[in-house]
Amino acid sequence: MCGIIAYAGDREVVPLLIKGLKTLEYRGYDSAGLVVKQNNQLGIIKRAGRISELEKSPELGSLNGSIGIAHTRWATHGVPNETNAHPHLDCKKEIAIVHNGIIENYAGLREILKKKGHNFISNTDSEVIAHLIEDFYHGDLTEATINALRCIDGTFGLAVMSKNEDKIVAARRGSPLILGVGDHEMFVCSDAAGILEHTKKVIYLDDNEVATITKENYSISDIYGNGIDKKVHEIKWSIDQIEKKGFKHFMLKEIFEQPDALENTLRGRIKDKNIKLSLNFDIKSIKRIIFIACGTSWHSALIGKYIIEKINRIPVDVDYASEFRYKNPIIKEGDLVIAISQSGETADTLAAIKEAKAKKAKTMGIINVVGSTISREVDSGIYLHSGPEIGVASTKAFTGQVLAILLISLYIEQEKGNKIEYSLVEEITRLPEKARTIFNDTEKIKNIANDLRESKAFLFLGRGINFPVALEGALKLKEISYIHAEGYPTAEMKHGPIALIEKDFPVIFVLNKDNLTKKCLSNIEEIKSRGGKIIIVTSDKELKEIADKIIYVPATKEELSPILNVIPLQLLSYYIADLKGIDPDKPRNLAKSVTVE
Ligand code: G6P
Repeated sequence: MCGIIAYAGDREVVPLLIKGLKTLEYRGYDSAGLVVKQNNQLGIIKRAGRISELEKSPELGSLNGSIGIAHTRWATHGVPNETNAHPHLDCKKEIAIVHNGIIENYAGLREILKKKGHNFISNTDSEVIAHLIEDFYHGDLTEATINALRCIDGTFGLAVMSKNEDKIVAARRGSPLILGVGDHEMFVCSDAAGILEHTKKVIYLDDNEVATITKENYSISDIYGNGIDKKVHEIKWSIDQIEKKGFKHFMLKEIFEQPDALENTLRGRIKDKNIKLSLNFDIKSIKRIIFIACGTSWHSALIGKYIIEKINRIPVDVDYASEFRYKNPIIKEGDLVIAISQSGETADTLAAIKEAKAKKAKTMGIINVVGSTISREVDSGIYLHSGPEIGVASTKAFTGQVLAILLISLYIEQEKGNKIEYSLVEEITRLPEKARTIFNDTEKIKNIANDLRESKAFLFLGRGINFPVALEGALKLKEISYIHAEGYPTAEMKHGPIALIEKDFPVIFVLNKDNLTKKCLSNIEEIKSRGGKIIIVTSDKELKEIADKIIYVPATKEELSPILNVIPLQLLSYYIADLKGIDPDKPRNLAKSVTVE
């Protein structure tokens, strides 16, 4: 959700910023811009559209300097045109800012500043920051920024520079920002991916912290100017993890990476059939679990409810983080609130965790990005170790999340001194290999995608633990192919969606071979008799006759079946999008980590 990169050092800054922006492009891609300090002036270039548009602009060649800031935008206020693109300047064009977040009181501030003679040219909320800093500026950019930030309500990841000083000021509240510490060079970035190539030493800024960087140094203070000492962390990712490695898109690479990613989630966590997790609280005393999440992570939470209620017989609630945070949730002693988030930065999930903490709940995170804001906010947690996920639509994080929940569930039983089902533990260790075999059917799935690509709508149906898989299949299709799709519990479809069925309407059933198969067969017949096209994802070979198309997955235990069943659905959505000429890595209007409400 908007990407920021800034640099102060000796290198030529324009190519460095452009390259960094490209790595951050998944955070927003409707316009981009950069500003460079050149001969004590600010040289600025902005373009509507993707970073490639910015890169193509002829003026770029005439910009040089070794201190600059850049931004790729996901619009909140103001249409995504060149004027609204960042950086934004003050009236005298001496101060430039890039901003990620929302300034909630911008309208009031804008009126005050206009009365003082400031001239606004964009429709953004962000521009107000540049004018506010200008108003406070008397030769010290850090001081002026701090004074401006004290007037601001809302969220920001911010980088500021002035034509008069060889420094960059950065600040955060709600929107992620890190400092990269290099050798005689310093970076500011929304996420480690943008600077990984240059340094692995990072400092995570916390809310209401302000950092000032020069090429040689950095200092950090709170919003009142009190100095703060921060730990320098070492990033464990390597640069090749954020490259496509011959795949056409990141999404396809990430789908194919799932067997390895699952192995990474498991690494060191099963030993002699025992589950090893290091949680810093007594999980066996938990009486209720509340999952909070958004998007795809919310679907893994729904699967988590099935798993935990089945294995642990602990009641589980699942809430959208955006709903939880404002509903005055009931939290009792013994409740554990678990945030599930790939990025660890989703604004609603973060706010929901803060709300849970304010109500004295124990909190835990199931997070992929190490060092992310939510991972630092929760009392305890487990990382997925699925590796960086760049494709906007989540894939490998989803399967990692389901696996992590299953490990937590088994761990609770083990901690309680109850017997855990060893055959399930054994099956977990076989899972990555089983997932690998699904890719033998890639061509078949591509052909099905080709058959279905012109369909105007889809229905995805699943029962029990596969109902959330149906939801996830429908979400993936909507997100990246722009085809309307709904996920429904199989038996519930006769209470509404069946009215949609006409000749060749595609209905995708996700079916395990279990005691509900027979019931689902009747539902399949009901769709068939109305002309619907039946596509089944299953391990059950006996369903071949009834299906128009069938995609087999390896048989496994119920608790693990969502992980295998979802993979063909991810591939199907991917191929439909690709065949329609849509870039699945950057679907329109979406962003990877949603750091605004
Ligand atoms: C965005 C992404 C989704 C993701 C959701 C939650 O909407 O496009 O793919 O599932 O955010 O993100 P999180 O990082 O919290 O899992």
